[in-house]
Formats: sequence, structure tokens, C-alpha cells
Amino acid sequence: MGPGEAPPLPNFPIFSAPAAHVWTSKLIHECNYLQGNEGNVDPQHLSVLHRMSSPSKAPDERTKQVDALLAADVAPLIEVEIAPFGLRVFATRMLGADEKYVRISNFIMPNCSAFDGGPLHDPAKSPPKPNIGYWMHWHVPIDDHHHWKYAIAYCYDDPIDAAFQHRLVRSEMTEDYDTRRRRSNRYLQDRGEMERLTFLGMGFNFYDHDRFAVESQGGVSDRTREHLGASDRGVIAMRRLMIRAIEGLQGGEAPTLSASNGADPVADLVVVSQKVPADAETKAVWRQYRPQQGKRPVLAS
Ligand SMILES: [Fe+2]
Repeated sequence: MGPGEAPPLPNFPIFSAPAAHVWTSKLIHECNYLQGNEGNVDPQHLSVLHRMSSPSKAPDERTKQVDALLAADVAPLIEVEIAPFGLRVFATRMLGADEKYVRISNFIMPNCSAFDGGPLHDPAKSPPKPNIGYWMHWHVPIDDHHHWKYAIAYCYDDPIDAAFQHRLVRSEMTEDYDTRRRRSNRYLQDRGEMERLTFLGMGFNFYDHDRFAVESQGGVSDRTREHLGASDRGVIAMRRLMIRAIEGLQGGEAPTLSASNGADPVADLVVVSQKVPADAETKAVWRQYRPQQGKRPVLAS
């Protein structure tokens, strides 16, 4: 994006990691790329969109645990902080008097996000470990009303379980990277399933849920009819950054990532999803970690 020759690809860690540590898929979306990326900076939606109708309905133990965490506080406190690559978005869910659940997701200018997504390895084979990698979503415009969502799983130290990811992400995907559930068939929503099993009635695949949420706003949503609230702080901050960048570009500034001169633009990226003491300062949680240029962030001594 921007004038002149396309800049080199940003030097993200996913490009220099061993091939077995990265797993990628893509999915067509019938909406604007920015709209597609907004869900990634809206951590509140996890407490609604991807939930079971009650945690007890979850198909396995891990989903049950995650669902219970997300159900414990459906109105998390959302805070944002400017980072060198874009934004850190903090979501804090209170878990009683002593503990809270903190998620740190990241907006990477101008069209990526990094966050703790689905498990990187099959939880049926080994218990999930924290801080082993992250998911990156890269929303690449096709035109104003369509984009490709590249979903990239990255594990710092170990190979990804590719067969598991294939089952999880690609099981309902067609050869041409579309899905069985789409706008034209109302995403095969089953109202009975909404009572019985899932909040949305659209099966268990997160990619279908997210696609429904962003496409059903239209190809370019009518933002004059929005009523943004406190849970939209990530979306608001992302749009402000983009508007500022567009104004900068019009004034002759280089786009943010192409100005990084080959350095890793996300060198101080930390993706967090963990329980912490209730009195811990949320915005300080990521500073407990010492980022290491695309390797596992380690606890700072
Ligand atoms: Fe989602």
C-alpha cells in the first residue's frame, strides 16, 4: 500500500523461522481488509462470538477451561498503548477477588495482528503450554470489498502440529480457500444449535465465526451508523493510527513498516494470555518479558 514500487516484505520472524515452526492458511473474505482486521483488536468478542451456550457444553477439556475464563467476565476492561509497530491492546477479565485474566493482542501497521489464538499443538496429545508462540493474521486487500485473510501460526521453539492445524482450520475449507459456510447461505446458522451447543449456531470453527462477524457488516460497513463504546477502544485506536498514517503519507512520510530498513518490525512484540494476581498492573504485564527478536520472550530477571 502507498505510492511507487512495492516495498520489500517486512522482516517478520515468521519469514526467518524454520519452515516447520510456521503453518499458514488463507481464507477469502467479502469485506474490506481493515474491517476484517478489526476483530483482532476487539478482545471482547471472545466472550460472545466463539463461546459455547454454556462452558459445560464444550467438546473437550481445554475448550471448557477457555470458555469458563471468557464467561467469567463478558465485559473485560479494554486498554490500549502505542507500540513501535502499532498498538498493544490489553483485555482484563476479573476472576474473583484474587485473580484476573490478561490478554495482550497486537495491531501491526497497517494490516496485521498478532495474538494468542487457537492451540498450536493438539491438546489431546499434550497439555497446552503458555508463551510458545502466537497467531498472526495478515489481511491483504484484493479490492475495496474483498480481501485475503492469511492465518499464520508461529511456534518459537518447536515444530507446529501441521496435521492438527489442517483438521482445525482447513477441515471445512474448499480447494479455492472459501468455506462451506458463507454469506449466501447465512453461514448455515442452526438456531437449534444456539440453544443446544454454541452461542452462534455456526459450528466450532473460529474462522467461520469471525468471517460471519466481519462480512455481515457489508463490504464496507456504514460507520456513520455506529455507536462505538468502551469495548471498542482497540478498534478506535487502530482507526486513529491508520488515519494518522494516511495523513502522514499524504504529507510525504514513508509508510511505517517500509521505513524499518530490514530490521524486525516486531522485535518487541509480546503476546500474552495468562492469569495474574488481581492487583498486578495490567499494562506492566508484557514488561515482565524480555523480547528476543522473534524468539520466545523470556521472563526478565
Ligand atoms: Fe474471533
